[in-house]
Amino acid sequence: MIAVGALISGAGTNLQAIIDRIAAKRLDCDLRLVVSNRADATGLRRATAAGITTRVIDHRGFSRREDFDRAVVAALREAGVELVVLAGFDRLITPVFLEAFPLRIINIHPALLPGFTGLHAQRQALAYGVKIAGASVHFVDEHTDHGPLIVQGAVVVAPDDTEETLRERILAVEHEIYPLAIQMFAEGRIRVEGRRVIVHGARPPLPPPLVSW
Ligand code: GRF
Repeated sequence: MIAVGALISGAGTNLQAIIDRIAAKRLDCDLRLVVSNRADATGLRRATAAGITTRVIDHRGFSRREDFDRAVVAALREAGVELVVLAGFDRLITPVFLEAFPLRIINIHPALLPGFTGLHAQRQALAYGVKIAGASVHFVDEHTDHGPLIVQGAVVVAPDDTEETLRERILAVEHEIYPLAIQMFAEGRIRVEGRRVIVHGARPPLPPPLVSW
């Protein structure tokens, strides 16, 4: 079973979705370690409640990003982690981290990439006036919210959506697609060819087009 480590900074609802999916035996991985750079992250309590080992590594204790990353990498290695899952982790990661886990770090972003990278993706989507929004799970590379896409999920933007209502609707999608991506990785179904991620095996039938105005 693949050993997974999750990195969080905040609420940890994606972490909770992963924990719940493992408990329901629909996600076949061993969540070995949860690391937070913030001691007050709610996600730490979720991990502890599920009996998962947690570590707090406060980035403010390091003068260089690389040194913080080295400490995180050491903790992940010590726990035998094979796949690193960024779940609301609010630090940029450096090549030190990327080189330690090549094509083994994944992230979730609350937008249909390549649109709306960085902070406040939902606010950006509303300001731009998109009619369909969503979330993306992708491999992490040296650029922010940029690496090869593994899974995306879409939602309709309602005319009366606020940043908060859109955030909630996108989060529901995130909680579906992140465990799905991890499961596909765990099953060894993912191959990366340049920017393209090929997922082997059965797929659901094509749904009707999602149309919105
Ligand atoms: C999610 O919207 C995720 O896409 C983004 O940060 C947020 C984390 O939420 N990277 P949570 O901590 O999982 O609730």
